[in-house]
Amino acid sequence: EHNGKINIAIDGPAGAGKSTIARMVAKRLGYVYVDSGAMYRAVTWHMLQLNIEPENAEKVLQEAQNLVIELIPDEQGQKVLANGEDVTADIRSLTVNRIVSRYAQIEGLRVKLASLQRQMALRKGVVMDGRDIGTHVLPDAELKIFMTATVQERARRRYAEMDASEGITLEQLEREIAERDQLDEQREFSPLVCAEDALVLDTTSMSIEQVSDHILTLAHTTLAGR
Ligand code: DC
Repeated sequence: EHNGKINIAIDGPAGAGKSTIARMVAKRLGYVYVDSGAMYRAVTWHMLQLNIEPENAEKVLQEAQNLVIELIPDEQGQKVLANGEDVTADIRSLTVNRIVSRYAQIEGLRVKLASLQRQMALRKGVVMDGRDIGTHVLPDAELKIFMTATVQERARRRYAEMDASEGITLEQLEREIAERDQLDEQREFSPLVCAEDALVLDTTSMSIEQVSDHILTLAHTTLAGR
């Protein structure tokens, strides 16, 4: 039974602005923002600490059994805890960026995280962003958005957010984003693909406010139609 709230799924490739927008929309609706990518990042961070490589799926799964990931809503959006340790900043490092898609290919890990994600959305009123939310995690979400932008624009956005100390050029970043897209799109289990009933939103020449206003309007329309 719902409580007058809906679930909103926002999927799309890296750097399309999903998390910024999802966080904003959640705030404006008084909903909870769930960053599913942060869970894959937290697992990745943890495995890197233990030197467990993504090729060793069995070991990854075994170790994942002992890992508790928590997303705690806060002022900035959410805090990410791995076995109680605050990894919110660590999971955004270039090292994690570069390898997270390889752990995200492991089927057993996807099953585990998807089940956690579904639990978080049970009571509705969730805005969840990721790659497979509308297709696989929450196929019954009342509103599904597939957010895209050109790879050049996505690289520019990510670059602008980054620290100069990270020492990567815009061109390099663009290549890495394109590689990650490819891994996410081509993986066997729940790849990045637009759901049939998702609305495609190309944000290349839209401002954050425009995108957020647009989705809010869609949310209100969806709520009114129920
Ligand atoms: O959204 P993000 O960049 O934080 O996601 C990090 C990685 O996690 C991304 O390269 C693919 C993976 N991911 C996924 O496979 N499924 C999701 N629902 C979310 C993220």
